[in-house]
Amino acid sequence: MVTIFENIKKIAIKIDKAIKEEDLGYSNNCNATGDNQLKLDVASDALIEHELKTNRLIKALISEEKEDIMKVNQDGKYTVCYDPLDGSSIVDVNLSVGSIFGIYEGDNLSGDGLVAAAYVVYGPRLELVTVVKGQPAHHYRSGSSGLFSSQCDIYLNEKGKLNAPGGTQKNWSATHKKFIDSLFAEGYRLRYSGGMVPDLHQILLKGGGLFSYPGTTDKPNGKLRILFEVLPFALIYEAANAEAIDDKGNRLLEITPKHHHDTTPCFFGSKYEIAKLKEAYELNG
Ligand code: AHG
Ligand code: MN
Ligand code: MN
Repeated sequence: MVTIFENIKKIAIKIDKAIKEEDLGYSNNCNATGDNQLKLDVASDALIEHELKTNRLIKALISEEKEDIMKVNQDGKYTVCYDPLDGSSIVDVNLSVGSIFGIYEGDNLSGDGLVAAAYVVYGPRLELVTVVKGQPAHHYRSGSSGLFSSQCDIYLNEKGKLNAPGGTQKNWSATHKKFIDSLFAEGYRLRYSGGMVPDLHQILLKGGGLFSYPGTTDKPNGKLRILFEVLPFALIYEAANAEAIDDKGNRLLEITPKHHHDTTPCFFGSKYEIAKLKEAYELNG
């Protein structure tokens, strides 16, 4: 696993440089989910593929930007699922964006098969968070030498102060609207940039809160993709003393997608906010 995290550090430094220096415009293509691809989406995907292919531990790659699974090393042990550039719609306005990685045992592409995860934040600083199943999530920052220095393990408080509500509000259910309003009425502050990496990272480093991306009338299964967006963050949140559930109250880590580009409604938060959510949605447990 250590070697895969070393690959990710090299990738992070290269993508950070590409974001700062390369063309931010659109390519002429769409990805598997129908999004218009930026040249940077395509370039980040190629950089990741190039680096991860060199690691003999990796059996296959699944990218947000590729329709199909890419077989890499027949004897490899892990499938790496990744979102090369999360936050494509906000990179042109110079907000923080990220890359997300889920490392799955063999062909077990499910919450149960997820054995490690990582994300990179390309912001004013270059940062990395990693987790191995059963261990704490750990925060790194890159310094002037290009090396990542260890910061701390990440733990959320029982209750936070931030509310990051995703999705188009006019398409929320009445239940969801009432719940989000109730958090604001309790004093929660709005923190939503439109990039799940910086939004979830902020909640992790500020001690807690709630990030939600519910099912909406236009997107009943939400927007965020299970294998390379939702499950990696679910592993990190659970390791950080927080919770990650869907709109039925099930742990996200219990999900097995039918297809590798499937999405799910998702909620990540500290224990208090998730308990409030379950109450509002009338979910058991
Ligand atoms: P991507 O750029 O990889 O397509 O993902 C963007 C995602 C996620 O980062 C963010 O939380 C969400 O889209 C924002 O969606 P809305 O604009 O609908 O809130
Ligand atoms: Mn994304
Ligand atoms: Mn993306």
